[in-house]
Amino acid sequence: MAQIFPRWTNKIPLAVGVTAPVVLVSVVFAIWYWFSPKFTDVGYQPEQPVPFSHKLHAGSLGLDCRYCHNTVEQAAAAALPPAGTCMNCHANLNLGDHENRIKPIKDAFAGGPPVEWIRVHMLPDYAYFNHSVHLAAGVGCSSCHGRIDQMETVFQDQPLSMSWCLDCHRDPEPNLRPRDQITNMAWGPEDAAAYDPNTDPTRTRAVAPPEHCSGCHR
Ligand code: HEC
Ligand code: HEC
Ligand code: HEC
Ligand code: HEC
Ligand code: HEC
Repeated sequence: MAQIFPRWTNKIPLAVGVTAPVVLVSVVFAIWYWFSPKFTDVGYQPEQPVPFSHKLHAGSLGLDCRYCHNTVEQAAAAALPPAGTCMNCHANLNLGDHENRIKPIKDAFAGGPPVEWIRVHMLPDYAYFNHSVHLAAGVGCSSCHGRIDQMETVFQDQPLSMSWCLDCHRDPEPNLRPRDQITNMAWGPEDAAAYDPNTDPTRTRAVAPPEHCSGCHR
């Protein structure tokens, strides 16, 4: 019988069978990747039970972030300070007309219920994040949290989405600094341009952030 279609067309069903699932998976992934809520939480700024100002304490008074968030370099999570940390100063300070603003802290210190701060940044449970690894690699607080030292009330500055994490993981170098600069809020693009992690003698290895799924979904 004469051939109506050339022989190579026999492979078409096979080719379609193999590529269709791949295309489908890629499309699904592209939708996750590009349309996952990239900016939905940026700007989230809940009102806190005590009007604590980072602008005053970390900005004007110049307190280092680690004075209060003291576990951030050793642990996955950054601890919030207990009332006692505030009382180091506030036991001897009189806020005059604003004294009621500090009252929940004084009550907690005197044995009352702890102040219930409202979470600002929060990843879903299925995503794994660890502060200490990032800080040891020389990524600064401001790369992920913005200019906290200028915030009267903390808000979410960056999207914290998967594509945001991966953008840096694919090209981390521009976001690296000497490790003694991690809490320097004024570190800017010029400083970054002048710093080369590859010639920093205090670094013993190149950083290799995970890009595979199980790196962040464990
Ligand atoms: C005097 C203590 C103190 C210092 C210093 C301090 N913080 Fe805080 N920080 C707090 C308290 C209390 C909260 C919880 C209330 C709030 O969100 O404002 C907080 C909240 C935060 C949050 C939001 C946490 C969440 O719920 O997601 C971030 C991010 C943060 N601080 C970063 C920093 C950075 C960066 C610095 C240094 C520039 C810094 N803090 C310095 C006491 C402090
Ligand atoms: C290093 C000392 C120091 C520490 C630690 C400290 N504060 Fe303060 N705080 C100050 C000073 C100084 C002022 C300004 C006092 C003034 O305006 O007269 C102030 C002011 C305040 C005010 C009043 C702001 C206003 O509107 O007048 C609040 C509320 C406050 N602090 C909360 C906190 C909390 C909560 C903590 C702990 C997480 C804390 N502070 C830790 C020194 C400190
Ligand atoms: C690489 C990005 C990154 C860097 C660098 C970073 N953070 Fe965070 N931070 C996050 C993320 C993401 C969360 C939310 C974590 C979660 O929900 O598990 C967070 C949460 C927090 C919280 C709330 C408590 C917690 O751990 O969930 C505080 C406080 C905080 N960061 C302070 C800091 C301080 C201070 C620094 C610098 C010393 C810093 N962060 C550096 C990304 C970062
Ligand atoms: C600004 C750059 C930057 C951002 C943003 C960032 N990372 Fe990373 N990440 C790094 C660097 C640098 C390392 C360290 C790699 C090393 O030391 O080899 C790292 C390492 C990690 C590791 C490996 C740590 C371990 O314990 O194995 C995980 C997991 C991780 N990041 C998760 C995240 C997640 C989740 C986000 C987003 C919420 C995120 N990162 C955002 C730069 C970043
Ligand atoms: C660098 C860390 C990181 C890596 C690597 C990573 N993810 Fe994610 N992923 C996240 C974070 C963080 C979220 C939560 C994003 C949010 O809350 O918007 C997330 C969310 C998701 C979601 C929920 C849907 C969405 O977009 O919010 C899916 C599905 C997912 N990831 C699949 C994957 C797959 C598949 C891979 C491997 C190809 C992967 N992830 C690799 C950090 C990562």
